Amino acid sequence: MEESNLSNIESTRRWTVLENPEAVAEMACKRILAAAVSAIASSGRFKLVLAGGSTPEAVYKRLSKSHADWRCWDFYFGDERCLPADDAERNSVKAVSAWLSHIDIKASQIKVMPAEMGAEVAAQRYDAVIAPVLPFDLVLLGVGEDGHTASLFPGHEHKQAERVHAVYQSPKPPLERVSLSSLSLSCTSQVLVLATGEGKAEAIRLWREGHNVPVSTITAIDRFEVLLDAAAACRSDLNLLPGENGEGKQSC
Ligand code: 6PG
Repeated sequence: MEESNLSNIESTRRWTVLENPEAVAEMACKRILAAAVSAIASSGRFKLVLAGGSTPEAVYKRLSKSHADWRCWDFYFGDERCLPADDAERNSVKAVSAWLSHIDIKASQIKVMPAEMGAEVAAQRYDAVIAPVLPFDLVLLGVGEDGHTASLFPGHEHKQAERVHAVYQSPKPPLERVSLSSLSLSCTSQVLVLATGEGKAEAIRLWREGHNVPVSTITAIDRFEVLLDAAAACRSDLNLLPGENGEGKQSC
């Protein structure tokens, strides 16, 4: 990618620092609901990619109590752990438990990655699910302490042109996973990345200083925002959103 394009990408990345994880979850909920209204108004559907891990749970719980045109939403997953379909540690089970089982939708709106079939088969099957629907409207992502996102981990090589990767030897259990590729995660109108807690501060610092951590490979067509709390921002040159306790720079 040419230098100018890279600097353009950086310039379109918005970093919003909020006081605490609750404020991040509240803002993420607002951003997702607003993106849905816009997408449904223009296309009739809202194609949302859900994040895994624990950070989004507070967002999903807020959304479970929100009002939206849920029947127009389609739920995809950025990655999935190769565990039995009903395993509590599955990203799909977490999202259904915190949110999707509490709203009025049809099961067919939830596009679960069949990761219980093993990484290779699941990746092939999910490629056929997402290929016809790209681009997404919003991709929600978390960040790992090593700068990974979805199941794109540092040092892991993948075929560039793949839309969905089979992942082995994951440094974050379980070893075997399925992940949308950087290409697919970037094929979206909006990206919203969530990072809370001091454990993410080093990954955020590396990302902002231009190191090639996996999350840094993700771009968006229209809008890319990182929502983080003061703890995750504390090693970076970022200030609290004005009006959020107005204290400006925070320290770890
Ligand atoms: C997973 C996620 C993973 C997660 C980050 C952050 O399967 O765990 O896809 O990429 O988003 O590891 O996890 P936390 O939100 O739990 O810190």
